[in-house]
Amino acid sequence: MIDKEAFKPCDLVIYGALGDLSRRKLIISLYRLENANLLKPDTRITGVDRHEFSNEEFIEIAHKSLQEFLSEALDDAVWQRFATRLAYLQIDLMDMAQYQSLKTIIDADKRIMVNYFAVSPFLFKSICQGLAHSGVLTDESRMVMEKPIGHDLKSSKEINDVVASVFKESQVFRIDHYLGKETVLNLLALRFANSIFTTNWNHNTIDHIQITVGEEVGIEGRWDYFDKTGQLRDMLQNHLLQILTFIAMEPPVNLEAASIHSEKIKVLKALRPITKRNVEEKTVRGQYTAGYVKGVAVPGYLEEEGANTESTAESFVAIRVDIDNWRWAGVPFYMRTGKRMPNKRTEIVVYFKQLPHNIFRNSFRDLPPNKLIIHLQPNEGVEIEMLNKIPGIEDPHIKLQKTKLDLSFSDDFKKSRIFGGYEKLVLEAMRGNPTLFLSREEIEQAWTWVDSIQTAWKERYAKPKTYAAGTWGPIASVALIARDGRAWEE
Ligand code: BG6
Repeated sequence: MIDKEAFKPCDLVIYGALGDLSRRKLIISLYRLENANLLKPDTRITGVDRHEFSNEEFIEIAHKSLQEFLSEALDDAVWQRFATRLAYLQIDLMDMAQYQSLKTIIDADKRIMVNYFAVSPFLFKSICQGLAHSGVLTDESRMVMEKPIGHDLKSSKEINDVVASVFKESQVFRIDHYLGKETVLNLLALRFANSIFTTNWNHNTIDHIQITVGEEVGIEGRWDYFDKTGQLRDMLQNHLLQILTFIAMEPPVNLEAASIHSEKIKVLKALRPITKRNVEEKTVRGQYTAGYVKGVAVPGYLEEEGANTESTAESFVAIRVDIDNWRWAGVPFYMRTGKRMPNKRTEIVVYFKQLPHNIFRNSFRDLPPNKLIIHLQPNEGVEIEMLNKIPGIEDPHIKLQKTKLDLSFSDDFKKSRIFGGYEKLVLEAMRGNPTLFLSREEIEQAWTWVDSIQTAWKERYAKPKTYAAGTWGPIASVALIARDGRAWEE
């Protein structure tokens, strides 16, 4: 087990320190960790990039990033403390000789080197070689990377092989930022710390499960990346499948990384393949046209800035997933995710089975099933929809009404600050706790399943169906679930 206090200070080195990921997310998260006194006093943060900047200029860039992207007010005392940790090194990442300069900052006796690859994967090989060549790595050093870890199984293997040529699997920390979200982690608590759920979490009591990850945003200037990727690979291959594994996995024997990884892999292996035989019936691809989101007119996908007007990339996907194992036999998981939906909404809805017999027929013809609704974002919380007797003595019949048992975290835990995913994950990488990171096998298993959908789409479903921005996807998505006599949660 990881002892929270026992970890050594770190030399956190961010490659691509001037890029978007570093400026929008990493600097912000590190500042927040500073604010919460969660950085070890001797931890140092070095930005590496190819442009020429002095330490002072880099510190100024970090300051500007905080002014631009930090949602709360910048605390000057915290900033002053934080700024003393920052340094900059100019390295052309393709030039092996330049990595020698890392020796001027790394002190392996005092600090653990944590290498954050905040760059495009095509640079991973030269960074790995440069690091090996520089001689600064030790067995304690770590590397952190995040998606896209490839765009299919083959390219993901190539990236993992490159990284494995220098780092052992135990030194590699692969991020999926959804695993840093409080509410995703709370799925573990909900499932494995509450007996009412542990005993009812299977095909005997559950009818089906829905996972919705709706985004209000469109492409946000990321046309180039997104158009080659599409929503299936951008969101479903990682974030939605991670949520699915947390809902569907067997209880791990403990919270150690190996125990959790092995249960998640079993779920991924049990996903029934979607092939060209069933792809049209089990999946829906969509692409948004112009419309209104929250009353504001927005352009269609093909009209976004820099768009390829012939593009057939999907900005929406809905899918029926079957898990072929004992626990989930006959319980479909319906997942949908899309850009330019009516609002940002990430939620899981567990529909329990209808009761076999209704003794309240006089007042309620069809007893609706109980629902467990888990809101991941925004307004984190859990609700249980159930039936209650309407109080009163006038009516001789027992009259029922749907009510909600509401456990909103935002109310209950108002005071305890809910951090974003990055703070949690950057901290865990510095602590050296691999539990919330993805194993190589997990990622490759997810790609194996997603690749077969991608191949089937090429053959059978090349053109996405359209939907107006500001709606919940193409009509075909409603039909996908209606064919099974069910409907999406509104
Ligand atoms: C990223 C995707 O991984 O997740 C983006 O690349 C997406 O396209 C984002 O918008 C959503 O993250 P969140 O935390 O806002 O739900």
